[in-house]
Amino acid sequence: MQSSDSQSNDEANLQLNPDGSLRHLLTLKGLDKSLLLELLDDAEQYLSPEGMLPVRSNALAGRTVANLFFEPSTRTRASFDLAGKRLGADVLNLDVNTLSRKKGESILDTIYTLEAMAVDIMVVRDASTGVPAYIARNVKDFVSILNAGESDASHPTQGLLDLLTIRQRKGGFENLTVAIVGDIQHSRVARSAAYGLRTLGVGELRLVSPPAMAPDDPELSFATIVDNLDEGIRDADVVMALRIQRERIGNLDGIPNIDEYFASFGISNERMRLAKPDAIVMHPGPMNRGIEIESALADGAQSVITQQVTNGVAVRMAILVRVAASMDAR
Ligand code: CP
Repeated sequence: MQSSDSQSNDEANLQLNPDGSLRHLLTLKGLDKSLLLELLDDAEQYLSPEGMLPVRSNALAGRTVANLFFEPSTRTRASFDLAGKRLGADVLNLDVNTLSRKKGESILDTIYTLEAMAVDIMVVRDASTGVPAYIARNVKDFVSILNAGESDASHPTQGLLDLLTIRQRKGGFENLTVAIVGDIQHSRVARSAAYGLRTLGVGELRLVSPPAMAPDDPELSFATIVDNLDEGIRDADVVMALRIQRERIGNLDGIPNIDEYFASFGISNERMRLAKPDAIVMHPGPMNRGIEIESALADGAQSVITQQVTNGVAVRMAILVRVAASMDAR
């Protein structure tokens, strides 16, 4: 059995071709600064002014993308679907409730079946750690795997859209204090954002949570761990709220009830007075209004939550084009 650390290093290596180009996207760990910045630059090309027609191209004409979401999703699934279609790909959205995996078929047999139908890119969300990398190790040379959310471990396209949103609003990373607030321990969003921010040289990253939700991942030891919200968001430039990932919490001991949680760790307009006056408020969604974030703040002037969603389509278009280009070069 591999340690989780060596496992994630394997994943970081597995996703790159020998020439350094992107073969799969499994984690932001191990992607260097220049590649991350190139991906953000690429994504900018797929944004259009609000109200204008979305950017389209034929970069994926002839390619087939299959979306395999074994966990619920609104934003990631819809944006991969739109991204593939806006690039001219055939897009297959598989209904996991009617897949033969429910009848005992192994995940690899499902993947081999799709390979035999000439699916080039498989977008995978799964509740178990290691599934995207396991599939990536077993597919044919012409197939790319994109991680669309892996247990509490990794959500790399979410990390990229968060980085893009921060760069658009703040211009860079080096002088920023970023506070991620909430259930850090069970959050793949926090991990991917943290790895990306570390690579891009963020000034300070604070991970703010009740002790029962504090990170237990040594890879996050570069961040400042804080268990008091006022301390965590004081003078921050960016405040990201996270929902409580109840589906991943086995033992609720030490987890505050909803009212206690909002009182102690909910982000509100009043709380945001402690952050910098021009601080932005982020949330990956889905939001639980009134628990981790006050509704008025989520809809207010500091919120960039809908910009994150818009950027999600652009980032996924950029990733699809990258891996398709690396297929053409193989
Ligand atoms: N942020 C995110 O992954 O949202 P969905 O679960 O709706 O895809």
